[in-house]
Amino acid sequence: MTRIQTLRPLMPLILAVLALPAIAQYLQVPKPSPGLMPNPAKGQRLYEKNCADCHGNDLKGSNKGPPFLHKVYEPSHHGDPAFQLAVRSGSRAHHWQFGEMPAVPGLTPDDVAHITAYIRMRQRRIGIQ
Ligand code: HEC
Repeated sequence: MTRIQTLRPLMPLILAVLALPAIAQYLQVPKPSPGLMPNPAKGQRLYEKNCADCHGNDLKGSNKGPPFLHKVYEPSHHGDPAFQLAVRSGSRAHHWQFGEMPAVPGLTPDDVAHITAYIRMRQRRIGIQ
């Protein structure tokens, strides 16, 4: 038996090990810059441009996406990392019947932190915290 044939049964394992760094990076939550002060006013502008089409200008949802002024999105159920992940990778339909959320390109983790701060401010105003 040649060497390569000996290795063949191990190929799936070898490939999995080689893919580990990529998988680890994929699983890592994007992080905003250290010391960033999330700014709800900036977040509102970014939200209206990138999210409002589906989640509603008033954060009350649309026929394409769910409302954020809803208990499901309170911080203890969907923490800030959920926002970073949804924007970077999209989200499978699991709470609602709107279908999948596609990834939203062109936003940095800092942008997403501003957007999240805006959503949290609006949620707090109606007692979702
Ligand atoms: C094309 C429509 C669309 C756009 C644009 C969109 N979303 Fe979504 N989003 C959805 C849908 C649909 C869901 C619900 C998935 C489900 O059933 O749970 C969702 C769910 C989410 C969730 C919950 C993810 C989870 O873990 O359950 C977050 C957070 C979120 N969106 C953030 C955002 C932010 C922030 C933006 C703007 C940067 C944005 N979305 C833009 C359609 C959209």
